[in-house]
Amino acid sequence: MTSNSLAAYERKLAGLDRKGRSRSLIAASGIDFTSNDYLGLAQSPRLEASLRDALDRGVPVGAGGSRLLRGNHTEHEALESEAAAYFKAARALYFGSGYAANVALFSTLPKRDDIIVHDALIHASAHEGIAASRAPSVATMHNDINAVADAIQRWRRAGGTGRPWIAVESLYSMDGDRAPLRELMGIANQHDGFLVVDEAHATGFFGQGGRGLADCLGHPENCITLHTCGKALGVSGALVMGPAIICNFLINRARNFIYSTAPSPLVAATVREALKILADEPERRDRLAALVTFANEEMEAAIGTPPSGSQILPVVVGDNRRAVRIAERLRSDGFDVRPIRPPTVPEGTARLRISITLNVDEAAISRLFERVAVSMLEEQG
Ligand SMILES: Cc1ncc(COP(=O)(O)O)c(C=O)c1O
Repeated sequence: MTSNSLAAYERKLAGLDRKGRSRSLIAASGIDFTSNDYLGLAQSPRLEASLRDALDRGVPVGAGGSRLLRGNHTEHEALESEAAAYFKAARALYFGSGYAANVALFSTLPKRDDIIVHDALIHASAHEGIAASRAPSVATMHNDINAVADAIQRWRRAGGTGRPWIAVESLYSMDGDRAPLRELMGIANQHDGFLVVDEAHATGFFGQGGRGLADCLGHPENCITLHTCGKALGVSGALVMGPAIICNFLINRARNFIYSTAPSPLVAATVREALKILADEPERRDRLAALVTFANEEMEAAIGTPPSGSQILPVVVGDNRRAVRIAERLRSDGFDVRPIRPPTVPEGTARLRISITLNVDEAAISRLFERVAVSMLEEQG
């Protein structure tokens, strides 16, 4: 390889830098206002003890192969049956990450004659799966139920014969707002379609027992949910929940499930414990709910913008570089806040994504929003 062969990448990186879009890895430090460890489980003694216990029981570190070969461990199966029971689903299937699960869902399930109608703000991993799908797709304006119904009707009028797949997040990762799930389920029912709900940011916190926001839909067979295990559950991986046939189909056809080493059985064992914590320690959700209410009030008082109502509080500053500068200032004040820029969010909506977790307290929240308000004023002046 010559240095010339790297020049194109260097130019592209320089281009990103010019647009204020360049990214780099920064070590975690300061008070956590950025992780998705909503229930503060990632470093909880109970999860640590369950990991040690699993090692003592002889659970292996590595699966050693694909689930379809020798990599299928009793820990994976126990996790799936316990998760299905807890989340009231017919069946659950465990993937190594939410990203992999979304790619599997959308690249495998919708058929050529179906259509995928997805919210414009859906996660990159769903986009990836949709791009790999045989089915055509259409993006609809964020949380616009009429646009979803119209897109399906247009497709039917143009001769669409299969089923519509409506794809949304129950709580949007960069905006913290909720999808109108009941209305979307109604549209899916009316058009003989499926609703796929990514619960990544709701799992563990929202819904009865932390079962997510789609729990209230009653788990019909045309609703598939995705529960990530690396956010509120504090571990990693993701559980796809829905009818047994859907899970069986994924086992048979999802290429990234078939041709990939199974997640570590030790990690599966730890996720099992995280589910037990959801059941045994409801006070974590109560504490988080109180902190979230407090943070929403503090944000509104400090900067005047209407807060999201959830644990994800975007402070939209618009310009990429401005978002980077404000986040840097906050980090130098001891608050771990990261700027989120396009293409993760739409052009012109660069923001600070402040997330509230049990890793912070009220005093830290108040100090953070004071500093956010001052930094924004400094930027304007
Ligand atoms: C909405 C949403 N779906 C899926 C994922 C991917 O999950 P994982 O981090 O487990 O790959 C994320 C992670 O950021 C997410 O925010």
